[in-house]
Amino acid sequence: MRKLSHKYISNYMVFLFCLTILLAVNSGCITSAQTDYEPQQSSEAQQGYEPQRVILNLTENPAISQALTWRTISDVPNPQAQIALAVESPDLNEKAQTVYANSEKLELKDKKYVYHHSIVFNSLKPDTLYTYRVGDGENWSEWNQFRTASRTNEPFVFVNFGDPQNNIKSLCSRVFRAAYKKAPDAHFWHFVGDIVNRGDNDDEWADLYDAFGWIPRVTPMILLPGNHEYIKKKVNGEEIRELTHLWHPQFTLPENGPDGLKETVYFLDYQGVRFVMLNGNEKLEDQARWLNNILAQNPQSWTIVAIHQPFYSTAKDRDNPHLRDLFIPIFDKYSVDLVLQGHDHTYGRTYKMRDGIKVGDSEKGTVYVVSVSGPKVYSINENFKDIMVKMGTGRQLFQVIKINKTSLIYESFTATGQLYDSFELEK
Ligand SMILES: [Fe+2]
Ligand SMILES: [Fe+2]
Repeated sequence: MRKLSHKYISNYMVFLFCLTILLAVNSGCITSAQTDYEPQQSSEAQQGYEPQRVILNLTENPAISQALTWRTISDVPNPQAQIALAVESPDLNEKAQTVYANSEKLELKDKKYVYHHSIVFNSLKPDTLYTYRVGDGENWSEWNQFRTASRTNEPFVFVNFGDPQNNIKSLCSRVFRAAYKKAPDAHFWHFVGDIVNRGDNDDEWADLYDAFGWIPRVTPMILLPGNHEYIKKKVNGEEIRELTHLWHPQFTLPENGPDGLKETVYFLDYQGVRFVMLNGNEKLEDQARWLNNILAQNPQSWTIVAIHQPFYSTAKDRDNPHLRDLFIPIFDKYSVDLVLQGHDHTYGRTYKMRDGIKVGDSEKGTVYVVSVSGPKVYSINENFKDIMVKMGTGRQLFQVIKINKTSLIYESFTATGQLYDSFELEK
């Protein structure tokens, strides 16, 4: 080993000393920045105030308003949201406006209570990115962002899901994540019912939000109830089925449907498309009358209708002739483009149909789709195979639907992200 000179050693010591000072100063700067940061929540006392299940829903005017719902375990004194234009600077709360929520106390099983809070942000600018957070003035969610719809018929994408319903956390999570990766810019997600298996079981809704993660905080959801969101009850010895009491508190959906069916039957116009959500579980004649009215005054180029129970069943031993009799003449009269359905836990996509028979691609007609996103699958029904372009079972699916003024491009993907079916409609 070579022996070092005294001069070299003393220069080296000076260098080490300076380096130590420099590091100390730098680490001091970092420490001082960190002391400005105050970690939020997590003490046990605050747990009950933490916003849970934050979900965006579309309103009937998605270009200028946005609905938002969340819940807390405790009864918070001032449930509120803050909203601001999304800017690059992190100083979001300086320009944020406060909007106070409507709240309701909801009883779960075993006399447990939770508190649901809802807000509709109004007077927003079209096609604009906003940021918001929810809380009570002290305990806050993170800041999230959403974009309002455009007032013009700009192209957009949405994602459709048939019934998740079963094993939602363990087996639907991957479908939701695959859908988010396939279409991260989807303007909203669309569910056709049987979202959970037992609609009054809050644990299953907890599974749904676990599976969703933060997606409903940034991507609005529109949903309608399936038969599994309806609960059997006995009234005066007679068995009836009633919408779960967990539906209305959890969602803030348009209230423009027939009386007694608000937030389960509604319509909204989104960039050139009229979306109509029907409820196949009750008051069907009322809905047929209402549908006739809203399609008679439809200025949009495209019309998409959703209902849980299919018109052309794809599951063995199932058929719904009463639905065909009631609604298909209305779909034909107003040339509905696409009908999205669930319930049959299989996949089926018809040719363009009119008056119960298939028609050519260039003729006026309606395409009917049945799909499933969850793991429960049924056997195929052969009765309607002649009108099906594609039928199948045994796989979890989601659909990415892209729409512009002249074309609708539909793609159905498996949970592994593989293309399973596709078609295009043109105007
Ligand atoms: Fe169903
Ligand atoms: Fe189902």
